[in-house]
Amino acid sequence: MNETLIAFLYLIASVCFIMALRGLSSPETSRGGLLYGVVGMVIAIVTTVALPIVQSYWWIVGGIIAGGLVGTVIAQRIQMTALPQLVAAFHSLVGLAAVAVAAAAFYAPHKFGIGEVGNIHAGSLVEMGLGVAVGAVTFTGSVIAFAKLQALMSGAPLVFTGQHILNAALGIAIVVLIVALIVTQSQAAFWALVVVSLLLGFLLILPIGGADMPVVVSMLNSYSGWAACGIGFTLSNSLLIITGALVGSSGAILSYIMCKGMNRSIFNVILGGFGTDSGAAAAGAKSGDKPIKAGSAEDAAFIMKNASSVIIVPGYGMAVAQAQHALREMADLLKDEGAKISYAIHPVAGRMPGHMNVLLAEASVPYDEVFELEDINRDFAQADVAFVIGANDVTNPAAKTDPKSPIYGMPILDVEQAKTVLFVKRSMASGYAGVDNELFFRNNTMMLFGDAKKMCEDIVKSLG
Ligand code: TAP
Repeated sequence: MNETLIAFLYLIASVCFIMALRGLSSPETSRGGLLYGVVGMVIAIVTTVALPIVQSYWWIVGGIIAGGLVGTVIAQRIQMTALPQLVAAFHSLVGLAAVAVAAAAFYAPHKFGIGEVGNIHAGSLVEMGLGVAVGAVTFTGSVIAFAKLQALMSGAPLVFTGQHILNAALGIAIVVLIVALIVTQSQAAFWALVVVSLLLGFLLILPIGGADMPVVVSMLNSYSGWAACGIGFTLSNSLLIITGALVGSSGAILSYIMCKGMNRSIFNVILGGFGTDSGAAAAGAKSGDKPIKAGSAEDAAFIMKNASSVIIVPGYGMAVAQAQHALREMADLLKDEGAKISYAIHPVAGRMPGHMNVLLAEASVPYDEVFELEDINRDFAQADVAFVIGANDVTNPAAKTDPKSPIYGMPILDVEQAKTVLFVKRSMASGYAGVDNELFFRNNTMMLFGDAKKMCEDIVKSLG
């Protein structure tokens, strides 16, 4: 394959990836976006495999078969709720790949056309150093993010005195080691850089608490993109540079959007320690003996039958219970009764960006009934019922009123302004951030204890 044809095919693949990102930005166009992504990836793989640099196909075929098998099995088994940790695990592999490619280039530079052992081009050494540093940080950071999300280790932030100073020292050490690598080209500098970067990855993510994990996963997504970009430079592969930059920048933009959704700064998230205050424990201790109002599916059906507007607030519990289909059925019956139905989506409801939108789309909820926080929050004051199904943190007013709360500053859905708030959940347990929700004890709240799907099915029976 000649170079012009390769460049042309890579250009087409890049355009496909850009179209994929554009399509994936809205549920209505996401299927088209996925298709563009698949076509772009097929063109990218076929073109790369046909490159003259490829001398043997065995490793490639073996890798495709092994990776394809593992990927297929995981994709078939994975629960939607476990996707964040899966994404974190995949990012760790991208980071590891970046380190492996850099090591291969360091030990066999002639195969990559970047010089000879001990006489590698300075520019390539800079790329290699940055690739190793970003890759290794991404690897260990993603492993910790995976362990926290999979509950293999505590989700609580792990903080100690002098942490920021240690991290800053490691950051400086990385810069010094990259310079040492460029000047000496020694194996010692290379592997010291790997070890220090691995350590920094651990230490960067350890102090970050569970509630900030969504931002961390998307930040690591961005890092993995930049690591891939670094590999692209080492391999002189323009498509990998473009794709890495696309992943890197879209991950960074997503992190920014999420930070905005939680009213936090990205530095505040990266510096960690969020959620270590005693606010959560204190709130939990206070709430033990307060009275609550609990109701049944029949009560909920009665209240909603008489409502002219109902705003549904889905959260993580709806995803766990897979209640979206029963929920839509309930909403359809309420519409038949003349109620106006809307769905309010918090930017971090559930466990991954767009989690609720995907589930509602799966249940064929019309897109024009689904609203983002800023577009619907004012409507709660006019709503008869806020039907909160498996959501908790995203409705918690402590985010506005309690500066000690770990979720303080996060914008919330103002469900308490509705005439009646119905909370569907199994118990009085707290949500992801571990904070009690004082709304459960309000006069206009009725708790509907039970599994979200079962509760919706029972309400449907009562409405019928
Ligand atoms: P949460 O605050 O985690 O609350 C979910 C509630 O669902 C729990 O209180 C739980 O109460 C209930 N629940 C669990 N299983 C249920 C079932 N089968 N049936 C009925 N209810 C069930 O969820 P949220 O309001 O969606 O907030 C999301 C939280 O996750 C935020 O703190 C956010 O920062 C964090 N987070 C978000 C993401 C992204 S990107 N979306 C990623 C990671 C973390 P019971 O146990 O009493 O049933």
